[in-house]
Amino acid sequence: MSFPQHRPRRLRTTPAMRRLTAEFRLDPAELILPAFVREGITEPNPLTSMPGVVQHTLDSLKKAASEAAELGIGGIMLFGIPAERDAVGSAGTDPNGILNRGIAAVREEVGDELVIMSDVCLDEFTDHGHCGVLDENGVVDNDTTLEIYGRMAVEQARAGAHVLGPSGMMDGQIAVIRHALDTAGFTDVSLFAYAAKYASAFYGPFREAVDSQLQGDRRTYQMDASNRREALLEVELDLEEGADMVMVKPAMSYLDVLADVAAMSPVPVGAYQISGEYAMIEAAAANGWIDRRRAIEESVLGIKRAGANMILTYWATELAAWLKESK
Ligand code: PBG
Repeated sequence: MSFPQHRPRRLRTTPAMRRLTAEFRLDPAELILPAFVREGITEPNPLTSMPGVVQHTLDSLKKAASEAAELGIGGIMLFGIPAERDAVGSAGTDPNGILNRGIAAVREEVGDELVIMSDVCLDEFTDHGHCGVLDENGVVDNDTTLEIYGRMAVEQARAGAHVLGPSGMMDGQIAVIRHALDTAGFTDVSLFAYAAKYASAFYGPFREAVDSQLQGDRRTYQMDASNRREALLEVELDLEEGADMVMVKPAMSYLDVLADVAAMSPVPVGAYQISGEYAMIEAAAANGWIDRRRAIEESVLGIKRAGANMILTYWATELAAWLKESK
């Protein structure tokens, strides 16, 4: 009888052995909590398609931010839902718009303890739900939109955001926003570019989260799921234009893209575990079909293994609490 020459099982014999030999482990510092703040509500509004996630009031948003800071989470990414929408997304550039008020409230609450990030995009603010303004044929007009993004970015910086996350996938958006920020004196505000953002069916629950008015889809500006190489072009362009960090989004269905970007990027790489990824696990767990905690940890670890330095996840706070308790 001959024995196997190699026994990888030896390193799996006990929890202590597995912990010692783990190649990757999660840390709250790399997590970013996406959060929604809605104008005109007095109580947090739970989201049916994202159990556990709410549209915040300014007050509940502040609480969520300080809780995140206390748990050692790296950052918070803010999205605003205005009471009124129009064709050009005026509430996005309004210094008193809900997103800008949310940024200011969070900054006042947590100061520099948490990296405060905000979404630079028009879809939450337009009455047609597109990420930019429309031309006379109903097509999103790239260059007219850029000018608005520039103004939006300056107001978000003024409100106190440390990092801006341009997510609209307009060509040239990073260069225009960088220039607008620098001109207004915000040279230290960083850009976390949603560089490789795909047109995904998994954004579904987010559309409920922001009460999206969108008819149709975003396929003329977000990337096509068929493409892998093109993500590198998007990342290179954003880096050339001045991105300080780059993102791949969604995460789960694009881990190959994330690994490619992680291999070539000279700047930190983030990945966004989006609303549909959250909803799927929550739904399966609610039915008793999967172990909720293990599925959450495994899904986030997979994103880290693929190469993300930073992970946006709606479970950031809960995950950070688990990590703390297991220490
Ligand atoms: C656009 C934006 C979207 C998400 C983040 N930023 C929606 C979209 O592109 O349709 C989706 C995030 C998620 O699904 O969790 N402002």
